[in-house]
Amino acid sequence: MTNKSYVMWNNKGGVGKSTITFHIASVYAEQNPERDVIVIDMCPQANSSSMLLGGGRESETILQEFISKTEPQTIVGYITEATLSGDANINKYITKVDTINSNLSENLYLISGDGNLELIAPLLSERADATPLSAADNPWIKIHSIIKLLTEKRLAEDRPCTFFIDTNPSFAIYTQLAIVGGQELLVPVNADDSSIFAITGLFNLIWGNSVIHPVYGKYTFAEKAKSHNLELPKISYLLGNRFTQKIGAANAFKALSNEAISRMYYEYRTDPNKFENRNTNITSEQDFENSYSVELRDFNSAGVVAANQGIPLSKMDKHTYEVYGQKIQVSKEQRELCKTAIDGLVAKL
Ligand SMILES: Nc1ncnc2c1ncn2[C@@H]1O[C@H](COP(=O)(O)OP(=O)(O)O)[C@@H](O)[C@H]1O
Ligand SMILES: [Mg+2]
Repeated sequence: MTNKSYVMWNNKGGVGKSTITFHIASVYAEQNPERDVIVIDMCPQANSSSMLLGGGRESETILQEFISKTEPQTIVGYITEATLSGDANINKYITKVDTINSNLSENLYLISGDGNLELIAPLLSERADATPLSAADNPWIKIHSIIKLLTEKRLAEDRPCTFFIDTNPSFAIYTQLAIVGGQELLVPVNADDSSIFAITGLFNLIWGNSVIHPVYGKYTFAEKAKSHNLELPKISYLLGNRFTQKIGAANAFKALSNEAISRMYYEYRTDPNKFENRNTNITSEQDFENSYSVELRDFNSAGVVAANQGIPLSKMDKHTYEVYGQKIQVSKEQRELCKTAIDGLVAKL
């Protein structure tokens, strides 16, 4: 068995990247005990890290401890060592999450997010753009491959790893590293026009515009990736997040979901090689939707409780939870519906 890696990205904030990362990583780890599952949090906001570390105020304190170490126990620590030494020891920067959050399984690990990603970003860009010292030297590829090389590692020789990479919406250099690190790209969208427009942005930023700008063109990530033959992830699934409410998918949501799928299908027809090969014959938008789109429902109060306390849906077995002193009810029916939605996605990975 080989390692796998999934990166969650859309060029839009608030679509559910961190929430979905938390839910699928925790359920995937439970269902794949023969693998080690590692969340790499490449977002300075560190939201998925917070949830994995048990949520709420306590997780903030723990995160702060990780970030303040001389060699931060975070993704910043890892990237710094990898940049300075050409490689880094994963064990120094990883956290076994069940030592902190007992709701999670023992094969789940985190390389925590860190606000200082913002601070090291210009330093990384500077190094990536440095003039090569020899014909064999390629600083741009070296920097952009740091996360990709990380996803080829294992914690134990006989156990393959699956990586889930959470990202920031901006196309900062650390997001570029994150995207290059994923074999498969998961794209969450919400039922609104801005997240649908972001799909076009995503294609332009990763693969480039069909029209290359005469001045800026050669500076773009897409052009550099092309000229260096850098391997890019394949699009795996469009995740329609919060599309299904308690009453089922409302008509207005369905219209927006269709529009998002239709944009993706257009890209698929233009170049199917950007997508995972599912070995099925796709000749219509319906075929495309069946193969490349998954709808996730609105988790409502179950989502609030899960995020605040770092409880995966599979472990949510109480009717009432307390969040910042308020009692919150989560009906069994609702918990089951949310769990089924996440299980359905995880089964496809
Ligand atoms: N399926 C869902 N059901 C209910 N709330 C959700 C769902 N997905 C995300 N949210 C909420 O939406 C907000 C943004 O989600 P988040 O995962 O932080 O997005 P991103 O990481 O893309 O910025 C959060 O408050 C989160 O709790
Ligand atoms: Mg996020």
